[in-house]
Amino acid sequence: MTAPISLKDLTIDNITDNVHAINSQGDNPRLRYILERTVTHLHDLAREVRLTTDEWMTAILFLTKVGQISSDTRQEFILLSDILGLSLLVDSIDHPKPKGSTEGTVLGPFHTHEAEHGDQGTLISHDSDGEPLLVLCTLKDVQGNPIAGAQIDVWETDSKGFYDVQHADRNGPDGRAVLKSDDNGNFWFKAIVPVPYPIPHDGPVGKLLKILNRHPYRPSHMHFMFKKAGYDPLVTALYLKDDPYEATDAVFGVKDSLVVSLQKVQDAEQAKAYNVNVGSALMSYDFVLVTDEAAARLRRQKAEEAIASLEGKFRFIDDLPVPDVD
Ligand code: BEZ
Ligand code: FE
Repeated sequence: MTAPISLKDLTIDNITDNVHAINSQGDNPRLRYILERTVTHLHDLAREVRLTTDEWMTAILFLTKVGQISSDTRQEFILLSDILGLSLLVDSIDHPKPKGSTEGTVLGPFHTHEAEHGDQGTLISHDSDGEPLLVLCTLKDVQGNPIAGAQIDVWETDSKGFYDVQHADRNGPDGRAVLKSDDNGNFWFKAIVPVPYPIPHDGPVGKLLKILNRHPYRPSHMHFMFKKAGYDPLVTALYLKDDPYEATDAVFGVKDSLVVSLQKVQDAEQAKAYNVNVGSALMSYDFVLVTDEAAARLRRQKAEEAIASLEGKFRFIDDLPVPDVD
């Protein structure tokens, strides 16, 4: 019989191992692994920076405020994860993209589940101050075959840089819609030209940005989320070229492959086909999805590469690494 764990007289040097011992009794191996690494990194952090009680209390009060300001329509924890680069990192790990497929980017806190389902050509923004924008897209697999019937969420701010949920007096969803790709993998809609805007910065995350002398702006962009059975979900966005914040996005979301130059509707035939004026702004993009299997294979391969440099033996549960202990 193993001796019961005694948790007395712990020191700077042995507390970590003892916390691991008491936490190792849970049944879920993946949770045990994540918690073990979290405790290790947290304890190492405290030892390394010689964390003071006052500093830890400041951090606790900061996180308390992050929770207190959060609501059904405001997600300050996502914001915190975004400005620390963690959201982009997790997306990159969990949704690896093979060459030729569309890269992902940050989801942000403003996707909702209340957007109306629209037909091809639907107008997603009713902000009359916005500059009209025609958006023409295709959706294909990496072999170039059209993907029909995918669900596509699109969302953007109004012309002042606010999402619908940021208006306390709103009547319903605006600046967003749920679309479907047609039999040829095409989808199109009408919107307004995106504008740069600051992420919500009147709360604890904004205060932190200020202390760090960082600006809160995101470059002009439009969000897209693709879902189709058999394909890895894609959360991405298109960014406008030459935006003043293109290279300094507050949440690290810009990738070159997602930066687009706006064009203009040139010919009368195209204008007639889409019922827009000649000369109006046009954004077009060819999106490429990865199958579930291809994404899982690449995720597994990257995980195997990552653990190769770690100490100890590992096994995989649902393609995720856990320590190989009896
Ligand atoms: C957004 O693009 O909607 C967004 C992303 C991260 C933080 C805040 C907003
Ligand atoms: Fe956004």
